[in-house]
Amino acid sequence: MIKKIRKITCIGAGYVGGPTMAVIANNCPHIDITVVDLNTKRIDNWNSNDLNKLPIYEPGLDEIIIKCRGKNLFFSTEVEKNIREGDLIFLCVNTPVKSRGIGAGEASDLKWIESSARQVALHARGETIVVEKSTIPVKTAETIKIILDSSITKSDDQEQLKEFHVLSNPEFLAEGTAVKDLQSPDRVLIGGENLEASEALALIYRNWIPDNKIIRTNLWSSELSKLTANAFLAQRISSINSISALCEMTGANVKEVKKAIGMDSRIGSKFLNAGPGFGGSCFKKDILNLVYLCGYYNLNEVASYWRKVVEINEWQQKRISKIILEKLFGTLTNKKISILGFSFKSDTNDTRESPAINICKDLLSEGADLHIYDPKVNPEQIKIELSSNHYKDSSFDGSWSYSPSINESIKNSHCVVIITEWHEFTLIDWENVSKEMLRPAWVFDTRGIISSKDLKSNSLRFWSIGNGDN
Ligand code: NAD
Ligand code: UGA
Repeated sequence: MIKKIRKITCIGAGYVGGPTMAVIANNCPHIDITVVDLNTKRIDNWNSNDLNKLPIYEPGLDEIIIKCRGKNLFFSTEVEKNIREGDLIFLCVNTPVKSRGIGAGEASDLKWIESSARQVALHARGETIVVEKSTIPVKTAETIKIILDSSITKSDDQEQLKEFHVLSNPEFLAEGTAVKDLQSPDRVLIGGENLEASEALALIYRNWIPDNKIIRTNLWSSELSKLTANAFLAQRISSINSISALCEMTGANVKEVKKAIGMDSRIGSKFLNAGPGFGGSCFKKDILNLVYLCGYYNLNEVASYWRKVVEINEWQQKRISKIILEKLFGTLTNKKISILGFSFKSDTNDTRESPAINICKDLLSEGADLHIYDPKVNPEQIKIELSSNHYKDSSFDGSWSYSPSINESIKNSHCVVIITEWHEFTLIDWENVSKEMLRPAWVFDTRGIISSKDLKSNSLRFWSIGNGDN
């Protein structure tokens, strides 16, 4: 009989661990939750009294942190102690793509999962439920279970007796809407073989989520469903982006096409916004992981089908850089270009795999002078992304600087490129800002958030994604 869960430990205080534990704490005042991480700066920032220093920007998160932190929600670097005390342990660590060795560029790097499982094996006491929250390849639970079980030794010391149950409970939150997604998820997925352990986890979620939204499956279906959900979502974006290019050639408009197909209830209207390609830490890595798994099982046609989703995404980013270059007469040398938005989507400060990175690098390699503004991404983060050389070349001809406001970014520029769909970019007074731009002045709207009417009256040249009138 599994004891009632009174203390949760979460390993990994990142974009998933932080918000997820905050929402559980808010809904379960009877449970103590500690989020642990090896990264001291991250933990210090989670504990900071200045809420602007929280390591993650998510709408609504700061209110929950104020309410729960120090009461039943704690952030700590004391990994061992908190593992020892936890009845249930979430593994919420990073699982990026391997950068070297066999499977490099496709397979998941499981070193953080393995090392956290080893820490749990070493320090847990009594009966412990271990929950995979990270996105991992199918069959990872088997590895975790072997590591955990191999730490169990026969001992007379009752204190040392251990028992582990491994569950899969993938997270489906999207950044920018994490709090909302966690508070009212479409579903919660629990995969596991031990019914009591699954029910103990379900009981936690039932504090705010109706039971009919809590799905129970076997471990492997749960692990595979997470990869499949991300692959299907990314596939929709590559599909609409491929059509956006055709719209530009044929005089069609991708927004009209989106509306027409989205009203078919079998297709549905969500996730059909054409743009500069999907970014974020997960879509690309999760599809590549799926591709790797298919290759591993000799399903080569399936692997190449899914690989195409990533290829179209990379092509869309290159396509946009090329259009900007061509419209600006084939040379960007010393031209001032205003870049609006650097995060991979609005309402987050996350820049991982942001389309802005590749587009900016392309423009820099043409000699452009970029002035980058983003309401939530700080200049240090932009610097890290633009100087990382894991994309081929880092010796750029152009230059970039951080602009503290939209106006400073646009002033004296030859063109504006909107890369992230931040709401404030829809409110720009083009009549005013256009006066400060150099002629001929261009606006490139890679998100389709600006109305051409607002621009054309101000003699600005306008290109918008998927618009056949361009
Ligand atoms: P992240 O990089 O923001 O956070 C991971 C944290 O784990 C880091 O702070 C790191 O220091 C810590 N860590 C690693 N090994 C550790 C160890 N042994 N002990 C203590 N701390 C350790 O990553 P994230 O974005 O939160 O993603 C975590 C997982 O969740 C990934 O598998 C990802 O695919 C999945 N996921 C992410 C999202 C998202 O929106 N970011 C959504 C759903 C699922
Ligand atoms: C995505 C999934 O939506 C989550 O369900 C999943 O949990 C998460 O990945 C994960 O596993 O990490 P996230 O990447 O945070 O969430 O954000 P999305 O809203 O999915 O956007 C991803 C990218 O696609 C962004 O660059 C966004 O701008 C782009 N996008 C999204 C489009 O270009 N068009 C759309 O219609 C929707």
